[in-house]
Amino acid sequence: MNVKKILSEMTLEEKASLCSGSDFWHTKAIERLGVPEVMLSDGPHGLRKQDQSADNLGINDSIKAVCFPAACAMAASFDRKLIYDMGKALGEECQHENVSTILGPAVNIKRSPLCGRNFEYFSEDPYLATEMATNHIRGVQSENVGTSMKHFLANNQEHRRMSASSEIDERTLREIYLAAFEGAVKNAKPWTIMCSYNGINGILASENKKYLTDILRGEWGFEGYVMSDWGAVNDRVKGIEAGLDLEMPGSNGVNDVKIVNAVKEGRLDEKIVDQAAERILNIINRYIENRKTDTKWDMDVHHELARKIEGECMVLLKNEGILPLKKGSKIALIGEFADKPRYQGGGSSHVNSFKVASALNAANRIADVTYAQGYDNNEDIIDEDMINKACEVAKSAHVAVIFAGLPDSFESEGYDRIHMSMPNCQNELIRRIVEVQPSTVVVLHNGSPIEMPWADDVKGILEAYLGGQAVGEACVDVLFGDINPCGKLPETFPRKLQDNPSYLYYGGEGDKSEYREGVFVGYRYYDKKDMDVLFPFGYGLSYTTFEYSNLKISSKEIKDTDMLTVTVDVTNTGDKAGKEIVQLYVGVNESKIIRPLKELRGFEKISLNPGESKIATFILSKRAFSYYNTQIHDWYVETCDYQILIGKSSRDIVLNDKVHVKASNKLPFKLTVNTTFGDLLERPEAVEELKSLVDIVKSSMKDMTNGKDEENDAISNDMVNAMLKYMPIRGILSFGGGSITYDEITQMLDDTNRKLYEK
Ligand code: BGC
Repeated sequence: MNVKKILSEMTLEEKASLCSGSDFWHTKAIERLGVPEVMLSDGPHGLRKQDQSADNLGINDSIKAVCFPAACAMAASFDRKLIYDMGKALGEECQHENVSTILGPAVNIKRSPLCGRNFEYFSEDPYLATEMATNHIRGVQSENVGTSMKHFLANNQEHRRMSASSEIDERTLREIYLAAFEGAVKNAKPWTIMCSYNGINGILASENKKYLTDILRGEWGFEGYVMSDWGAVNDRVKGIEAGLDLEMPGSNGVNDVKIVNAVKEGRLDEKIVDQAAERILNIINRYIENRKTDTKWDMDVHHELARKIEGECMVLLKNEGILPLKKGSKIALIGEFADKPRYQGGGSSHVNSFKVASALNAANRIADVTYAQGYDNNEDIIDEDMINKACEVAKSAHVAVIFAGLPDSFESEGYDRIHMSMPNCQNELIRRIVEVQPSTVVVLHNGSPIEMPWADDVKGILEAYLGGQAVGEACVDVLFGDINPCGKLPETFPRKLQDNPSYLYYGGEGDKSEYREGVFVGYRYYDKKDMDVLFPFGYGLSYTTFEYSNLKISSKEIKDTDMLTVTVDVTNTGDKAGKEIVQLYVGVNESKIIRPLKELRGFEKISLNPGESKIATFILSKRAFSYYNTQIHDWYVETCDYQILIGKSSRDIVLNDKVHVKASNKLPFKLTVNTTFGDLLERPEAVEELKSLVDIVKSSMKDMTNGKDEENDAISNDMVNAMLKYMPIRGILSFGGGSITYDEITQMLDDTNRKLYEK
């Protein structure tokens, strides 16, 4: 298609109509100009393509497809290549099914364990979310299929999700909530972005020019089109002006007419409509020009990929010598999830899996297995009969493996959780099983952290998350040691909900949800508070052991424009092959800025045979040391020492070193009568200029200390020094003995500012 030519031939009405969907899943065709309609479908971890009989809520059955591990699990793999492979597989499915864009990845930050959609999101950490999103997008788009990174922006709760406004300060937005979008837009150039339902600081995302245009396009160079989340449009004219190009699913033409009228009445510049239409046409064109109509999609091959991926997503949380299980031993599988795994979440991401592998079936193939249901997943009722049967089965086996977690009704798109507990019936089952069978392992299917009142009483805990349709097989692979677990937690598991930093404010009041914890999300908070957690961010065990040594940094002192290379040797010191996720955090102790103690700035996943060593290499640039400075509205590196921390988890730092980083630019500064003497004294160049002022104040301070009675600790030297330090320059009028006037002071300050600080 010649986009420019088509655009020049389109009527205003046609252009406006292209800016909304024709139905739930398609853009509009303009037949006379040869523009075809193209299809969009959910994602993110499987293709949810609804066929022709799609209902108008878009939630009925979709075609049979493969459900890969949801993002909660995927992120635990910390594996860039694996998520790329999943993306590529999804891209193939889309090409085969003629779906031009698959909606995802979803990169919102996990602010609270309560968010109903956490299972669709990657992490509490923006760097990990960036890396996962980047590679998801690259994988899908390698097949010439578009992605729609969502939900832009600050959509971290389901409660009142279509009306609530996320109230967030500028620095927190930049460091936490915008960062994953920023990173993935810059790294992977998603074809489209989906704006969220909620507002940001009082302005709906779908009408928010600051984010949809100024930041997304102006600062980050986004070149695709922005679509609305389904039904996120309020004022369509405001939306298109703000940068919302495509309305989904469309408004039966009502909003198209509003756009046309606004142009005709001079309220909207037609160029804005041209621009939106051109962006949409460009993406349609990109898809159809390079269409791969002969792409094959082998569901069984993709199922095996889902199994392989999930094998690397599982996190071994506890293992007191009980895992891996011995293949010949007698194993009791307990819990409904062993037979019917919970492997995905409810809502728009729900895939119609062509098959589902249960652990029960998979284990039956390799071990002597007995099974008891233990609880009913549909209702949280303690059923004595079921528990007693389960205890019998557990007693007569060598090991009991309980499959537990959260039922669908406990977490879903559309609403938030109200607590962090598992169903009582499951907790009770676990409690009773360990009474009769000390060798008990719990396997968890959940999309977000849970409280584990039984954690100390069981011998093993394996977090499988919502692991996709092959989860049962992958669990058995890990339980029996065919796969060595290597996942690490992409989020902190607090001991209890009340420990979470957003606990006091989460959900908000009415339509205002204030993010008062600021940048202290997840481990950034727990670390700074030195709080005991159940399992920390980045934590996960293996069937082998790893040792780290020989940390090297390329320089002890750098400018913020330099790169720093960090290397560390990692050795497999156990007797099994395994993979280790080596984490690099940058820490800062002596900052004047209120900052987290450390932040994840790199990770490498390394595969090692027993006895083998490899080098993990990290390259850090300015951003790794920066915070977002709201005075200059930009990233800034404070001149100081930074710690380079190498960890097995956020709480298990095994090696560290220090680098001094010097800022290459100074923050703007201006002397005023309210500048304190302390701040002034830190600037020798200003002291030089204002020597007479400083002398006056110093001598009056000296008078104070000279005259003081040694016994009278009401005026200590410390106090006098503090008074000086915190006294604004104007204080000289009160304490300087009348030797200088206000006008003389301001004149001196103006002269000094002109000479030293004004550009
Ligand atoms: C969800 C999106 C989804 C869309 C289409 C919305 O309700 O928030 O994530 O892509 O529906 O199903």
